[in-house]
Amino acid sequence: MFIKDIKKAEVDLKLLNRDRRVNVAETEKLQRMIDRKKRHLDQQVIDDTGSYEKNKVDIENVIEWSPYMKVKRFLDESFPEYSSSLLDSISDGQYESKKWMSEILKYWKFGSKEPWKIEIAGSWFGWPFIELLEECVTKIESIDLYDIDEVCHEVVRKYIYHFKPKYKINQYHDFFERGDERIRHMIICTSCEHMPDIATMKEYYKDTPKPILALQSNDYVDLREHENCVESYSELAQKNEIENVMYQGERDFGFYKRFMVIGTW
Ligand SMILES: C[S@@+](CC[C@H](N)C(=O)[O-])C[C@H]1O[C@@H](n2cnc3c(N)ncnc32)[C@H](O)[C@@H]1O
Repeated sequence: MFIKDIKKAEVDLKLLNRDRRVNVAETEKLQRMIDRKKRHLDQQVIDDTGSYEKNKVDIENVIEWSPYMKVKRFLDESFPEYSSSLLDSISDGQYESKKWMSEILKYWKFGSKEPWKIEIAGSWFGWPFIELLEECVTKIESIDLYDIDEVCHEVVRKYIYHFKPKYKINQYHDFFERGDERIRHMIICTSCEHMPDIATMKEYYKDTPKPILALQSNDYVDLREHENCVESYSELAQKNEIENVMYQGERDFGFYKRFMVIGTW
């Protein structure tokens, strides 16, 4: 081969490499445009349908799109005086105590024979606990939420719109004012310190099957609204007439202790 042929081959190779670099850059530019468009369309679907897809975590700004942020923005605008309460409901301490309950409930993985009917007394904003509860019960038929605060109902309606649960969520006001006899598989109250004992409503629950009670209270007596604190999990069980204890425990949260009992009447 002549040296001029080698030189020509080198020049051709350089030209080919330059073209390849241009092509790669163009392809990357196009890919970025497609990704931007896709994100825009995804956001539009979420906005139009209100649906929240958990797999959106790999896309930028996921916090901004989460139902929690959307509900927070709604509260900031409509009920600013509730904004701090919403932040409290998703704070580390509150989440920790709900997680504790769900981790224990998960052990049984209830509801495999028939879909479960559940009640939550003093449900506050419902979420994030409802999300955790879904991991504990195979199939949920309905959840009755009780809260005397109408703004909590508004917030729950927003969460329902964004999370779109597959089961029914019914909202009631005072837990102690409902007077129909009913079958419920589980009664949850993580706010026992805020209200009379759940056992005062025992007569309204059929025992076919006996409902499982999952209760939390605390010894934080310094807050005016904490009208029914306890000093131990045994006291919580005894005040709520729980005879068959499936779990009892306590957690130290620094300036107060939280107690939990799970069991049946
Ligand atoms: C501040 S929140 C919950 C705090 C608790 N640490 C928790 O994480 O569940 C207590 C809720 O109980 C509600 N509540 C108090 N008495 C009630 C009653 N008799 N029936 C239904 N809800 C009640 C209040 O309106 C409030 O939203």
